[in-house]
Amino acid sequence: RVLILDFGSQYTQLIARRVREVGVYCEIYPWDVEAEAVAAFGAKGIILSGGPESVTDAEPPKAPENVFSLGVPVLGICYGMQTMAVQLGGAVESSSHCEFGYAQVRARGHTELLREIEDHVTADGFGLLDVWMSHGDKVTAMPEGFKLMASTDSAPIAGMADESRHFYALQFHPEVTHTKQGKRILQRFVQGICGCAGLWTTANIIEENIRLVREKVGSDEVILGLSGGVDSSVVAALLHKAIGTQLTCVFVDTGLLRYREGDQVMAMFAEHMGVKVIRVDAEARFLAALAGVTDPEKKRKIIGGLFIDIFDEESSKLTSAKWLAQGTIYPDVIESAGAKTGKAHLIKSHHNVGGLPENMKLGLVEPLRELFKDEVRVMGVELGLPPEMVYRHPFPGPGLGVRILGEVKKEYADLLRLADHIFIEELRKHDLYDKTSQAFAVFLPVKSVGVTGDGRRYDYVIALRAVETIDFMTARWAHLPYELLDLLSRRIINEIRGVSRVVYDISGKPPATIEWE
Ligand code: XMP
Repeated sequence: RVLILDFGSQYTQLIARRVREVGVYCEIYPWDVEAEAVAAFGAKGIILSGGPESVTDAEPPKAPENVFSLGVPVLGICYGMQTMAVQLGGAVESSSHCEFGYAQVRARGHTELLREIEDHVTADGFGLLDVWMSHGDKVTAMPEGFKLMASTDSAPIAGMADESRHFYALQFHPEVTHTKQGKRILQRFVQGICGCAGLWTTANIIEENIRLVREKVGSDEVILGLSGGVDSSVVAALLHKAIGTQLTCVFVDTGLLRYREGDQVMAMFAEHMGVKVIRVDAEARFLAALAGVTDPEKKRKIIGGLFIDIFDEESSKLTSAKWLAQGTIYPDVIESAGAKTGKAHLIKSHHNVGGLPENMKLGLVEPLRELFKDEVRVMGVELGLPPEMVYRHPFPGPGLGVRILGEVKKEYADLLRLADHIFIEELRKHDLYDKTSQAFAVFLPVKSVGVTGDGRRYDYVIALRAVETIDFMTARWAHLPYELLDLLSRRIINEIRGVSRVVYDISGKPPATIEWE
């Protein structure tokens, strides 16, 4: 396995994903983790990520000293290269000229890392790599023992290596897809240089997880809050395979789910797979709790709180259960660990299941704790879940509660469900569902005039929202074809009584958010 030390780059998780894609298990620790934790991890190789700081600052982040004395290969990327240079006795200078974006690097193919990896070859026999650069500082003097591995006009030392100690450093980012040979370079490092076998495959992960779960829970009973979302669904499928009827799922139907979603969850898990699922029909309780409430944050709190109450009521009836399973995934773990070590063990905070009654004292089972979302999805398909479910767009915990602006009423939720269903159905038909990252309808509780036949009618407005995004932090509105928008508008207004107008949201994030509340 490989350890990645995170210096705060936005690309650190990408490094981990690329390494895992080539079948090597890795974890991310923050750069200021104690040296003992680095040693205890037992890495066969260490990668130092990029980061926003400058090694020329007064107290720059540094790699724990033992990184360079453990005797394992080290790869420094961007900031990781600069701190490697400085910590081993080289020099780095800030430059007024920042290099950002595409660059072509002259690579010398005489190092193990870049040997025969190139996009073009120059007339005089140098390999050329098309890469992604993003840096201000640059290495100006290599530490003793290093030789030049790559260069560009603006960064004469764009790569360096001390092959006797297996230290390698790159100024460019091999983890981003713009660096065409990036995956091969990382593969060369983790497999060729560190000697890790590519054993981290979905089939192996499933098998290993099943073994671990069985070992942990023995013959005890386990409770899982099933929401219909990807993570809890994959946990349900995995645990069902591992422990069969020892698993009981509690599915709280809030009445704020999508069109027929509750029935689909039951059809899939209870009927098709034979998982024990307790469905709690709680629509009336949610609507009662939300009556008269218009403030979005208050609505979120009410929905989250009531969800936990109901989940607790149901699970405390299952007196023989000893374990609570959760769909915590690796990005949740990294986030909650924050800037300090990977030790924090936080209950998924935005997850709706969280506060079990004190007297229940359940142990936690979190089989997805080490996995990225894309790994969870592949695992779901391998476990037999339908791809349409596994690759579904994200859906917020408070559900339609934040897609009905202002007060939530059953009448509004029913209209919204129908409109949302038409939208998604047409996106799928037009092969655009997988090309958008998230798409949904929003209910606006304002009445707008329309004419049907001879009469004027005052009915509600539906807004359609579709975005494209990689990380959901920024997003652009999806440029859906006019013909499709036209069809959607006609279908929604004609097929749903109570809607007189459809609008399309053309706001980007930022400044707007993806959801409307
Ligand atoms: P925003 O609206 O902040 O959304 O641009 C970013 C992503 O987060 C989802 N979202 C939520 N998810 N509980 C959730 O579980 C929430 O309260 C919530 N609010 C927004 C949103 O759907 C989008 O994918």
